[in-house]
Amino acid sequence: MVQKKHTMVRYSPVPSDPSQDGVPVPARTSRCPKLTRYKVMTCVSVLVLSGVLLLVACLHTGALYGLRASSGPASRTCALTAPDQTGHTTGKGSPAPSAVPLPKSSDKSSLAAARRRVMQRRLPVAIVIGARKAGTRALLRFIGLHPDVVTSKREPHYFDRYYEEGVDWYRRQMPFSTESQVTIEKTPNYFVDKDTPERVHLFNSSIKLMIIVRNPVERTMSDYLQLKEKYFKSGNTEPMAPFEDYVVDAETGEINKSYAPIKRSLYVRHLDRWLVHFQMSQILVVDGENIKVRPWEEMSRVESFLGLSHKVGEDLFVYNETKGFYCVKVEANMTTGSDFVLDPLPLSERCLAKSKGREHPYIDPEVRAKLVQFFAPFNHRFFQRIGVYFDWK
Ligand SMILES: *[C@@H]1O[C@H](CO)[C@@H](O)[C@H](O)[C@H]1NC(C)=O
Ligand SMILES: *[C@@H]1O[C@H](CO)[C@@H](O)[C@H](O)[C@H]1NC(C)=O
Ligand SMILES: *[C@@H]1O[C@H](CO)[C@@H](O)[C@H](O)[C@H]1NC(C)=O
Ligand SMILES: *[C@@H]1O[C@H](CO)[C@@H](O)[C@H](O)[C@H]1NC(C)=O
Repeated sequence: MVQKKHTMVRYSPVPSDPSQDGVPVPARTSRCPKLTRYKVMTCVSVLVLSGVLLLVACLHTGALYGLRASSGPASRTCALTAPDQTGHTTGKGSPAPSAVPLPKSSDKSSLAAARRRVMQRRLPVAIVIGARKAGTRALLRFIGLHPDVVTSKREPHYFDRYYEEGVDWYRRQMPFSTESQVTIEKTPNYFVDKDTPERVHLFNSSIKLMIIVRNPVERTMSDYLQLKEKYFKSGNTEPMAPFEDYVVDAETGEINKSYAPIKRSLYVRHLDRWLVHFQMSQILVVDGENIKVRPWEEMSRVESFLGLSHKVGEDLFVYNETKGFYCVKVEANMTTGSDFVLDPLPLSERCLAKSKGREHPYIDPEVRAKLVQFFAPFNHRFFQRIGVYFDWK
């Protein structure tokens, strides 16, 4: 009897009918399932482990060293580590934002270093909020040269247009970055949008804000030119009225305060709405005139403001006589943040687009004088707020 009991327990993995020989049930039913669960768990563990190892291999050869390496196809070999930098609109089908840290070495400090290099989409900690047509693209591109900075390629318009989409949508508009990099986006319409200041404050009350400004007369003209470009692009063939007709009210001879490009040039009005929610110390005002002639000086101020080391120096810029504007001197293998890392700019795009920094056509001197006079009191108040004076004539 004892012998039989022993045999059954030992060799029969299938639970038999307990009533069969009166052997106590628990001994068998509890012991056999335990064995199978153990096997399953082992299997799962092995699978998970190999998954992790695969990921690690991908990440290691791809994203991590792609960061320092040349443009190379190497950084694109792993689907997981070739983040879709252009995935602005939807973010659909893009890989999950997080990745697994890699325990290549058991050394603690190298583990921490590895974790810092893992790529994720991160929310911005600084935003270029405007002003439109004042050099926001140049500002973003130049600061994007810094190895510790990544910048969104397009304007996400989260706070003014897509707020309902939610913060996860916003995150998906951001480029991949490592833990030690700061993410910056720019949407020039934020500066003039009425709802945006409060929403940004809700999002992160200690966020850093940057505004680039230039002579409002030039900015207004530039704004007009862009509207004109849009006008023709949308299929209009009729000539558009000249600048002077838009900015001056023909009846009174006064400046038309309702013309949108004029309104957008009243910097102090917009700034004051931001100052309801933010301290001036959180806002950096970048000189849009100086960024054209000595961009490295403005970059140095931006770096200090963002708490970054000074890396975007004079040596990174090359003056283009034809364009009358600085271009970015970037080797294909250069180590920088944002655009240039996973997706190096083609040669043709290292200068800003043709429409940027272009020479402005003639403005009737009388109208110019009127504009200067009109903007003067607004500018004066603006300088008081920011504690800096610009020589805008
Ligand atoms: C808010 O912005 C500050 C300043 O850039 C940054 O240090 C902080 O991490 C941000 N907070 C969050 C939750 O992102
Ligand atoms: C001023 O500009 C607004 C907006 O462009 C326009 O609707 C209005 O007719 C202009 N007023 C005059 C007097 O030109
Ligand atoms: C300067 O800009 C012009 C016009 O965009 C371009 O054709 C030329 O190659 C540029 N020169 C240099 C040295 O980058
Ligand atoms: C890029 O590569 C070239 C030659 O391969 C090398 O001479 C140059 O120093 C590299 N530039 C940087 C910034 O690493």
